[in-house]
Amino acid sequence: MALSPTQQAVLRWREGGPALFAQEVLGADPTDQQWDASRNLVKRRRVSIRSGHGTGKSTFMAWCVLWFLACYFPAKVPATAPTAHQLEDVLWSEIAKWHRTMKEKYPALGGQFTWSAGAFRMASAPNESFSVARTSRPERPEALQGFHSENILFLIDEASGVSDNVFEVAEGALSTDGAFVVMAANPTRQSGYFFDSHHKMRGAWAALHWDGEASPMVSRAYIENMAKKYGRQSSVFKVRVKGEFVGAPDGVMYASGNPILNAA
Ligand SMILES: Nc1ncnc2c1ncn2[C@@H]1O[C@H](COP(=O)(O)OP(=O)(O)O)[C@@H](O)[C@H]1O
Ligand SMILES: [Mg+2]
Repeated sequence: MALSPTQQAVLRWREGGPALFAQEVLGADPTDQQWDASRNLVKRRRVSIRSGHGTGKSTFMAWCVLWFLACYFPAKVPATAPTAHQLEDVLWSEIAKWHRTMKEKYPALGGQFTWSAGAFRMASAPNESFSVARTSRPERPEALQGFHSENILFLIDEASGVSDNVFEVAEGALSTDGAFVVMAANPTRQSGYFFDSHHKMRGAWAALHWDGEASPMVSRAYIENMAKKYGRQSSVFKVRVKGEFVGAPDGVMYASGNPILNAA
């Protein structure tokens, strides 16, 4: 039987990844870095992005939510970050923003989903296809645990700051065959699951590096300001602009609680 135009479109978006979906359905203009992550997500399924501030990591994750729930069914997208601010004020508000655009540009698709604080659901199958936000706290390590679906995408924003026990509890689910995982962070910590995805576990990941200086989303004024304030050779510049891991192993200065490195 011939595929309907909608079925054909969904298959093309699946293959094209979240960047193609964002371009065609949301009218966005993904950066080269976001295109690269999109291709890697389709091909490798496990993507870990180290990057400077403001390159579009959280935006990419928001696109991933809409893409995955539109292209797979049933589908679950557990999303986490170390603080409610990063999760609710940043990622969840990006989802709201792009969902509004989707409803305008593609009402037939956008109208199928409902956004609420902490959850984004398919209206007609709210318990089968959804994304939920759960803050990762060391004392509540089950943020990514307990989700089962044929199609699953884990999103971990500011992954450097997510405590190790959250990853320990979720390790089985995260490494399940077929699961999609996107994690992204300023590389503020020299140990842990995110660090390992760029080092000893690198073979299991598409480990990507987004340099802030190569991103059209990062203002030149921000870069110049950081260079002037800290120096281009400083650790702060390397972490916050260049997206490089620096410092002593398990360094005190780069610990996830460092307010300078976690201010944004
Ligand atoms: N491809 C894009 N097109 C337009 N705006 C974008 C794009 N990617 C990111 N942005 C915007 O750039 C800003 C920074 O993006 P964000 O995803 O918060 O960066 P990060 O998570 O890497 O710090 C946000 O205002 C976001 O909406
Ligand atoms: Mg972000």
